Amino acid sequence: MATTDVNTADTARAVRTIDGVVDIIASTAPEIRTGLPGRRVTAEDENPSGETQMAADVFADDLLCERIGALDGVGEYASEERPESVDVGTGRLSVAVDPLDGSSNLKPNNTMGTIFAVYDGPLPAHGRDLVAAGYVLYGPVMTMIVARNGTVDEYVLHDDASHELVREDVSLPDEGSVYGFGGRVPDWTDDFEAFAREVEQDASRKLRYGGSMIGDVNQILTYGGIFAYPTLESAPEGKLRVQFEGYPIGYVIETAGGATSDGTKSLLDVDKDGLHARTPMYVGNTELVAKLEAALD
Ligand code: F6P
Repeated sequence: MATTDVNTADTARAVRTIDGVVDIIASTAPEIRTGLPGRRVTAEDENPSGETQMAADVFADDLLCERIGALDGVGEYASEERPESVDVGTGRLSVAVDPLDGSSNLKPNNTMGTIFAVYDGPLPAHGRDLVAAGYVLYGPVMTMIVARNGTVDEYVLHDDASHELVREDVSLPDEGSVYGFGGRVPDWTDDFEAFAREVEQDASRKLRYGGSMIGDVNQILTYGGIFAYPTLESAPEGKLRVQFEGYPIGYVIETAGGATSDGTKSLLDVDKDGLHARTPMYVGNTELVAKLEAALD
């Protein structure tokens, strides 16, 4: 077989695998949601980042690992809930998942998400190795955002495991009208606090912060503006995870025409320093992220 044929065959297989991952996320989300009511309690363990695991985190992770791991073309599966990635086959694509982002919102019954990232290469992978990424938002309606092939689409997920395309080519509105910043205010750096005060002064913007990154980022994708989980005095690397949160959300927002940053460069260019490495995250309209970078300089 000529080299071009091999590449074409590889590409076709990769496309099937990416579509398969998206289908699994879409069809598993209703089951994850149905499984939540009895799992609003803490599990016995902590996750690899030292956070208390909820029974729901473990449940969602087990379901996704089993199903994504069985998919042809996937070689590795990793999640925020496991210390190491799992070898699941011979495929060249790797899938990294945050099974339940914002699971501390489970007790107060607030928004949560499931994030997925498909990398062309072994884990930990680099942001520029991403070939698809997205998330499910468990809100009053279950929706799924998928970035692949240079566009972002939104689907509504149904309880019968089907999904329906509701918005194509999603992009950030030009005029951002909301902002949401995580971490304790006294723990912010002086430069970030000065930037936050400037954003607050603009009468066209409103605070929207719910404590689940996916819920907060989806507000930015819908209304435009800026979300940050910044560098903290007590946590210079911020809180959120590069492989499971920073890269996939960077990919979604940049594909939707927005900008992302770790304070100095695109989230997609952050160094992949281990599977559970963290990064500060700033995502939103290009102009606001540029102002943020200038303020932190
Ligand atoms: O990564 C988990 C997460 O729950 C994010 O979804 C959210 O932005 C952040 O942590 C909130 O953390 P905290 O309540 O500690 O500020």
